[in-house]
Amino acid sequence: MILVTGATGLSGSIVVREFARQDVPVRALVRDPDKARKLHGLPGVEVVEGDMLRPETLTAALRGVERVLLISSPRERMVETQCAFVDAARAAGVPHIVKYSGKESGVGFDPGSFTGTREHLEIERRIEASGLAWTHLRPSQFMEFYLPGTSTGVDPHRRELRMSIGDSRLSPVAIEDVARVAVALMTSAGHEGRAYDMTGPEALTMKEIAEHITEATGTAFRHVELPLDDKLREWREAGTPEPSLRILRELLAERKRRPESHVRLETHRAFGVRPTSFAEFARRHAAAFLGTVGG
Ligand SMILES: NC(=O)c1ccc[n+]([C@@H]2O[C@H](COP(=O)([O-])OP(=O)(O)OC[C@H]3O[C@@H](n4cnc5c(N)ncnc54)[C@H](OP(=O)(O)O)[C@@H]3O)[C@@H](O)[C@H]2O)c1
Repeated sequence: MILVTGATGLSGSIVVREFARQDVPVRALVRDPDKARKLHGLPGVEVVEGDMLRPETLTAALRGVERVLLISSPRERMVETQCAFVDAARAAGVPHIVKYSGKESGVGFDPGSFTGTREHLEIERRIEASGLAWTHLRPSQFMEFYLPGTSTGVDPHRRELRMSIGDSRLSPVAIEDVARVAVALMTSAGHEGRAYDMTGPEALTMKEIAEHITEATGTAFRHVELPLDDKLREWREAGTPEPSLRILRELLAERKRRPESHVRLETHRAFGVRPTSFAEFARRHAAAFLGTVGG
């Protein structure tokens, strides 16, 4: 049996849907039965409740599991949550953990300079030292983060992508691509001890991203460059908590220092997944960019 954690979240729900789409049976770990409703009825998906921070709640979820795709929130005690889960998985005899990790696409980017990547590295090291078989899947920034309703998304009312990153380029990847790789990786052999980095197919400026959204929606969106403190104030006023603001400040400052991004498509190629371009992503989500339906 394959277990996916974080199954009600942004990435986890797309991954679980991809298992269902491909008719591959999967068990989905959820902690909130209300949020789990969106997974009920998906073919081949067994929903099991449990809290990754409370090992005593994980017995049913871990029973008979051969591989786990380990996902949790970057905003919620990620190191503690994932390390507690790894300990529980080892105790239950799970042989292989696939870590849904993360990697910045910036050329020369120092992973230690940003809380997100530093925490992923710390968890990766802990899994490698656990004695279990491991694989790391490391997507770059998600295209989904430009959709309205996320802290970094466009403002659908002003029709603006308001950012503080200058002309730096990022190489966002569609979560659907990561999900396809995840299903292929979890259902084939020979990935133990390997790390798979993924970006999208282009390194884009915010201006270019706004142009793609304009073309896909038939409505003019523009990139508005804000001073860093103004952007942070805007996020604060929208309710972004202080720890997340500190992380965003670090990230934007580092990305301004390193304006170029790598494009890494080896993982797409290795698993036969066609890379989704931003133009295609924007067309698929045009209504969401206009704020007329959810993403
Ligand atoms: N943002 C990016 O561009 C980016 C790029 C690459 C990698 N990543 C990484 O991708 C991962 C997933 O991010 P995401 O935005 O998809 O996450 P997300 O939407 O915040 O979802 C996190 C999921 O983890 C669950 N969870 C958290 N704590 C739990 C616990 N104690 N027990 C059980 N479930 C728990 C949440 O459950 P509830 O629904 O109940 O809250 C939710 O289902 C993160 O590690 C992130 O760093 C992000």
